[in-house]
Formats: sequence, structure tokens, C-alpha cells
Amino acid sequence: MKKINLIVFGTRPEAIKMAPLVRGFLQNKNFITKVCVTAQHREMLDQVLDFFEIVPDYDLDLMKPNQNLHSLTATIIESMKPVLEEVKPDFVYVHGDTTTSMAVGIAAFYNGAKVCHVEAGLRTFNRKYPFPEEFNRQLTGKIADYHFAPTKLSLANLLSENTKEENILVTGNTVIDALVYGIDRVNSYNFRDSEIESLKQILDFKNKIILVTGHRRENHGEGLLNICTALKAIAQNNKDVQIIYPVHLNPNVEKPVYNLLSGVSNIILVKPLAYAAFIWLMEKAYLIITDSGGIQEEAPSLGKPVLVTRNTTERPEAVEEGTVVLVGTNIEKIIEETQNLIKDSKYYNSMSSLHNPYGDGNATGRIINFIKNLKDE
Ligand code: UD1
Ligand code: UDP
Repeated sequence: MKKINLIVFGTRPEAIKMAPLVRGFLQNKNFITKVCVTAQHREMLDQVLDFFEIVPDYDLDLMKPNQNLHSLTATIIESMKPVLEEVKPDFVYVHGDTTTSMAVGIAAFYNGAKVCHVEAGLRTFNRKYPFPEEFNRQLTGKIADYHFAPTKLSLANLLSENTKEENILVTGNTVIDALVYGIDRVNSYNFRDSEIESLKQILDFKNKIILVTGHRRENHGEGLLNICTALKAIAQNNKDVQIIYPVHLNPNVEKPVYNLLSGVSNIILVKPLAYAAFIWLMEKAYLIITDSGGIQEEAPSLGKPVLVTRNTTERPEAVEEGTVVLVGTNIEKIIEETQNLIKDSKYYNSMSSLHNPYGDGNATGRIINFIKNLKDE
């Protein structure tokens, strides 16, 4: 009897990081694999499904404008019940720390499926930062039967919580598997993309390109205001710099960013870019300013320094290696670190190492082998 997998995700980063696993399992004849999206995100999820050519078997289509954590959590748990009853999965795969991951984990546990947590064991050990992701990942860790930890540090975090070692595998992060596939495709001779063509029109590569993203809930309000104030000053002080900011669709981000930064000549605000255009732009960028988890993990593979607009990170590996600096949301600190990277080429070179502590691009194979080799209980 073939084992049945159900892979579930809902937001842009989960989709990017689960795409290699979906493609890997669908090619593996030992398993029946179904894909369900909660569509906690809509447009930003669909951009990823298109690029990786994934057609979900179930699409719960749950996103609401300016949704709240309470109703999203409740709706996901409730909407997963019929899917779980129909698919009857042996294994349900969830990713990381979103509302989708946590709520699907609960629903899968209620239905008696084995829960497999991809990107397990990341911790700040502070439930307020990032909010609510640290709580989501701790809870998902409690629910999960099997834990795929990207690094040795995430393994150590899980062991410190008394997770059984035989149920944990250090795999590397699947984000690197996705990036290797994506960069290869984007740089292939016959790849054409209209978004990339428009970026070539807007950007002048004689300038230093600073790529910015931001969306974290704990930065909404004052934090975001500070980040925008710093960006405006950087743009005004450096005429040889172009700042490009693909703005997250969350209205708590979109409104203030457009209000504060529209009309500055060397700041370009665009809609979220599809993954192909985004990784193309990361390769072209001089430096990246972001609060994104996934971008912190991708950038070292492309040799790009990252200033992280957060005070803590569950991804300290690249900070320790010196390619990522935490600048928080302090206006002076963001300006100072950016100016140092613009003006001091020695400092810049010291931050642009090509070594990636988060993975080698082979995480998917390790996860599939682990599941294949499990003994029936
Ligand atoms: C979510 C995750 C966060 C992850 C981030 C990645 C939770 C609690 N948060 O945060 O961990 O880092 O995604 O981007 O799970 N919206 C759209 N279209 C889209 C996507 C979002 O319009 O394609 C708007 C909607 O108004 C939506 C709002 O953004 O209600 C917020 O989306 P939500 O997923 O709740 O929060 P994010 O801040 O995106
Ligand atoms: N990304 C993208 N388009 C964009 C911005 C980001 O495709 O306009 C990709 C990026 O390459 C990374 C992921 O989205 O893989 C990060 O998602 P996000 O920052 O929304 O979430 P987080 O990683 O913080 O959970």
C-alpha cells in the first residue's frame, strides 16, 4: 500500500519553501501526494504556484482583506476537516511558523495523521518577537511527529525542548533548493519574463541598487515609520543609489509605505514581484534591507549583504558569519549601516561572502528519504 502525503501551505514564503518538496514527492512513485492551499495569501501565493507549476488538489481560498488572527485560525482548522477526511493522509506536511502551519498542524493531529514539520526548530525564545510566529513554531513543534531542522542550531533548540532525537533530521533549508532551481531557470537562455523586462526599464544599473522589503506585524506602526524615514534620508543623501521596494499587500504596510515614500525620485515602489523577478533583482542588488525570514536565508547564496530591520532573529547563523547585521528599526542605525556599506568597499566585501549556512540545495531529497525509510508502527 502506498503511503498518502498531504502537503499544506498558505502564504508566499511557505509556497516557495514547500515547492521543491511538492515537486520531489510528485515524482516519487512510492507515495500518493496531494497538495492543499489554505490561500491565507491569494495573489502572492498564486505568483509562486505559477512559477513552480503547482496545481493544488484543494484550494480553500480563505484570504479576507485585512484578516485577523482569530478568525483565520478558526476558519483554517474548520476548513481542513473535510479535506483530511477525504484524503485520509498518513503524513501531513506543514512549514515554519505561519497561522496556516499552526492551524493545519492542529487539524491534522485531530484527524490522527502524522505531522511533519518542515523548517523546524527556529527559535528566538521570545513569544513577542516575531509575533505570532515564535508561538506558532513552538506550538507546531509540540504537535509534530517528525521535525526537519534546517541547521544544527535548530536541532539543538529542539533537543533543548526534549524532542526525541530519532524524530529530528537536519536537512538544510528547502529555500535553497528552491533558489537553486529558480536561479538556474531565470538565467537559462530561453527564459523570458515581462516583469524582469519592466525592471530593466526602471532601474539604471550604473547606480547602486538597494532592495527593500518589510511586513512583520511587530514593525507595523512606529517601526515601519522609522524604516521609511531612514530610507528617505538614504535616498536624498546618495544620488547614485536607487531604492526599489516591492511593497507587501498587507494594508497595514501598503498604506503607510505609499504615503511616506511616494514622490521621492530615487525610491521606486512596486507591487510584490513574482519569485522569478525577485530573485533576478536580488542578484542585481548591491545590498538588501529587509525584515523577511526567507530573504535572510537566500541572500548569502547570492553574496548580498543584508541589514535586518529587527532586534532579534531566529536565524543567527548568518549574523555570526558576518553577512547579516541586525539594525532594528532605529533610524540612525539603519542610515549609518547603509552609509558604511555604500562608502566602505572593504566593509562591503567582508559582508558579501558566498557561503550559505542555511543549506546546500539538497534538503528535499533528505526529507523524502527519511519518510521513505520510516518503519511502519
Ligand atoms: C503572513 C504570516 C507571516 C509571513 C508573511 C509572509 C501569519 C500570522 N503571518 O503575514 O508569518 O512572514 O505572511 O509574507 O501567518 N494580502 C493580500 N494579498 C496577498 C497577501 C496578503 O491582499 O496575496 C493582504 C490581505 O489584506 C491580508 C493581509 O495582507 O488580509 C494580511 O495577510 P496575513 O497572511 O494575515 O499576514 P501577513 O502580514 O501577510
Ligand atoms: N519574495 C518574492 N517577491 C517579493 C518579495 C519576496 O517572491 O516581492 C520572496 C523571497 O524571495 C523569499 C520570500 O518571498 O523567498 C519571502 O517572503 P516574505 O518576506 O513575505 O516572508 P517571510 O520569509 O518573512 O516569512
